[in-house]
Amino acid sequence: MRRVESTGPLRGTVRVPGDKSASHRAVMLSALAAGESLIEGLSPGHDVAATSQIMEQLGARRHDEADRVTIEGPLDGLRPSDRALQCGNSGTTIRLVTGIVSALEGTHHLEGDPSLSRRPMDRVATPLGLMGAVVRGQGARVTPPLTVTGAAHLRGIEYEVPTPSAQVKSSLLLAGLSAQGTTTVFEALRTRTTTEDMLSAAGVVVDSVAVDVGRRVTVYPGRPRAHHWRVPGDPSQAAFFCVLGLLHAEADIEVLDVEDSPERIGFVHVLQRMGGRLDATAGASGSTLRAQSSDLTATEIHAREIPSVDEVPVLTVAAAAATGVSAFRDMSELRLKESDRFEGSLALARLLGCRAWSEGDDFFVEGLGSAGAFAPFVIDAGLDHRFVMSSAVAGTAGRGCDIDGADTVTSSYPHFFDDLASLR
Ligand code: S3P
Repeated sequence: MRRVESTGPLRGTVRVPGDKSASHRAVMLSALAAGESLIEGLSPGHDVAATSQIMEQLGARRHDEADRVTIEGPLDGLRPSDRALQCGNSGTTIRLVTGIVSALEGTHHLEGDPSLSRRPMDRVATPLGLMGAVVRGQGARVTPPLTVTGAAHLRGIEYEVPTPSAQVKSSLLLAGLSAQGTTTVFEALRTRTTTEDMLSAAGVVVDSVAVDVGRRVTVYPGRPRAHHWRVPGDPSQAAFFCVLGLLHAEADIEVLDVEDSPERIGFVHVLQRMGGRLDATAGASGSTLRAQSSDLTATEIHAREIPSVDEVPVLTVAAAAATGVSAFRDMSELRLKESDRFEGSLALARLLGCRAWSEGDDFFVEGLGSAGAFAPFVIDAGLDHRFVMSSAVAGTAGRGCDIDGADTVTSSYPHFFDDLASLR
C-alpha cells in the first residue's frame, strides 16, 4: 500500500519518460534492421523492457550506455525462439510482436500477466490469419497465452480495422514488411501514426492518405534500415502533471519536450475547453506544456477526440474537480485496456465523492467544484499503471489517498513518484 499525501505549493519542471509507443517501435524496428541502431530517450518502463527482451530472444543484441541504447539487428534477420515470449502487462508488445512473428516461419508462444491474459487478441488474429499466419489463443476472443504459427511468405491484404486501434494497425503493417504485395489498413478514425512515421524514417515505403476522419495506410514490403532514434516525451504521462497543475490550488508545472502529434494531444484541448490554464509551446523536440492552478468547468468528451482513450482516467479526475456534469461519450474501448477503465473511472470518481453513472457506453461525472473537496480515499490499482498515477494526482491535489498495487506504475513510469516529489 502506498500513501500519497496532499501537499502545499507545487512548482517546477518535469521531463517525463520517452514516449512508450515510440520506444516499443524504436526497439522493434532496430531489431528488424541489419546492424546497429541508436536509441536516445527510450522509455525505462517494464512494458518496453518486455519488448526489448523479446527482440533479444529473437536474435537482436542490446547494449546500454547512460541514456543511449544500442540495438543490433541480426544481418540474416530475426529467428524464432523455443522459449515463450513474455509480454508482461503490455498490450502493445503482444499485438505488435504477434505481427512480427507471424512473418517468421515456425511456432511462437506469447504470454502475459493476468491483466494481459484477459485482453482480446482476435483483433489481430483475424487479419493476420487472412495474411497466412495462424494465431491461436483462449476462447472466442483469443485471449493470451497465444500460439502463433508464422509463415515465411505472408500475403498482403486490404483490411478495414473494425475498431480503430493503433496496435492492430501496427501489427498488420509490421507483418506486411515481408508479405508478398502491399498491405493496406483502413481505419475509420485516425489513430496515432507512430508506426508509419517510424517505418518511413527507417526507409520503408509507406503511403498514408486521410479519408474523412479516418486514414488509409499502405506499407510496401521492405526491411527497415538501422537508424538513430530520438524518442520525445510521452504525452500520456505528461497528462498526469497537466491535470495536477490545473487541479492543485497553488501550482505552476512545466513538462518539457512532449510528443505533440494531433492524435496524442487531444487531452490538452479538452482541458483548455474546461477553462484550464494550460499552454503548449512548440519547440524543436516536441512541445512544452505549462499548467497553472485553474477553476474548471464540466465538458463533453467524445472518444474520437482522444483516440486510444489513454487519458480518460486522469480526465475523470479533472471532471471530478470541475463545476457541473461532464459527459464521456462512446467509451466502450476503455473496458479492454490494462483493466476495465470504464468501471474503474466511475469507481474513482465515486471514491472522490462525486455522483457518477453510466448509460450504455457513455458515463457522467458530477464534479465537486474543486479538488479541495475530494474525499481521502483508498484504491486498488488492479494492475493498471494509469489508475496508480490518476489516483496519485487526485490524492496530491485533494486530501491524500492510499494506493494498493502502486508498484504497477513501473510498467510505464518507474520514476513517477520521484518526479512528483520533486515538485514539492
Ligand atoms: C498504443 C495504442 C493504444 C494505447 C496504448 C498504446 C500503441 O491502443 O491505448 O497505450 O502504442 O499502439 P489502441 O490500439 O486502442 O489504439
